[in-house]
Amino acid sequence: MSGCRAVVVGATGAIGSAVTAKFLDEGASVVGGGRSRQKAESLADRERFDFVPVDMESQESVAEFVEQVWSGDGVDVLVHLAATDSQGLALGVTDEEWSRVIEVNLSSTFRLVREMGRRMVDRGLGGRIVLYSSTRSEFAGRAGFAPYGASKAGVNFLVKQLATEWAPHGICVNAVAPGFVLSEITESRASSEFVEMMKRRVPANRLGTAEEMASPAVFLASDDASFMTGQVLFVDGGVTCSS
Ligand SMILES: NC(=O)c1ccc[n+]([C@@H]2O[C@H](COP(=O)([O-])OP(=O)(O)OC[C@H]3O[C@@H](n4cnc5c(N)ncnc54)[C@H](OP(=O)(O)O)[C@@H]3O)[C@@H](O)[C@H]2O)c1
Repeated sequence: MSGCRAVVVGATGAIGSAVTAKFLDEGASVVGGGRSRQKAESLADRERFDFVPVDMESQESVAEFVEQVWSGDGVDVLVHLAATDSQGLALGVTDEEWSRVIEVNLSSTFRLVREMGRRMVDRGLGGRIVLYSSTRSEFAGRAGFAPYGASKAGVNFLVKQLATEWAPHGICVNAVAPGFVLSEITESRASSEFVEMMKRRVPANRLGTAEEMASPAVFLASDDASFMTGQVLFVDGGVTCSS
């Protein structure tokens, strides 16, 4: 990936920092996005890495981010992982919680991808877009995933629609759908009982790692995946195929 310019939104998270490290190891330059510059410090001393703040709850911030990361030579690969979650059963989900999760995970994702896609189309050199979905996009959790699952189901549809519209421009749009990984977004659910229950449900008998969720993004951005578009790759140790 030497010479490749990649943008990783959500680079400060568990899976996002693993994605960023893998792209850097492969020789790409990476602009990482997220709200917390401090959380990007583990990557700060890597060559070819730069951090640009973005808040996916703010339309202005997303617009400024796209302008800033595109300036100069443009962007070859967008990997977008920034997401939020909410707690509680569907009957307790407030309108505010619903709107916040749908805004960050779906509406803002659409705006980001639309504006990056527009620039990739105009530049005429193709591109790769990798979104992060979830096993919850197709399979309900036992409790508490109404806004999050609905937002990720929307991401899966966007992948298919945008892949179809942008394939003639040489732009591939795919998603990675991870199974359960320990991270900030999952820590409020991750009691030891829950983790043990999850391990029992995974045919591989263990949880995945952030690195295992990151590798498919590198593949999807590589020349090896040049004819692959509109796909959602479930990376879950066999959970969904056995559900
Ligand atoms: N971990 C899992 O079990 C799991 C399972 C299925 C799918 N996924 C998906 O995989 C992706 C990465 O998850 P993860 O486990 O690595 O989560 P994580 O460690 O909590 O990281 C979440 C990332 O999203 C960013 N983010 C959250 N709200 C944001 C906002 N308003 N504006 C900008 N950035 C925001 C965070 O950055 P800042 O804090 O710096 O803002 C962080 O970089 C997500 O799309 C998630 O839905 C994860």
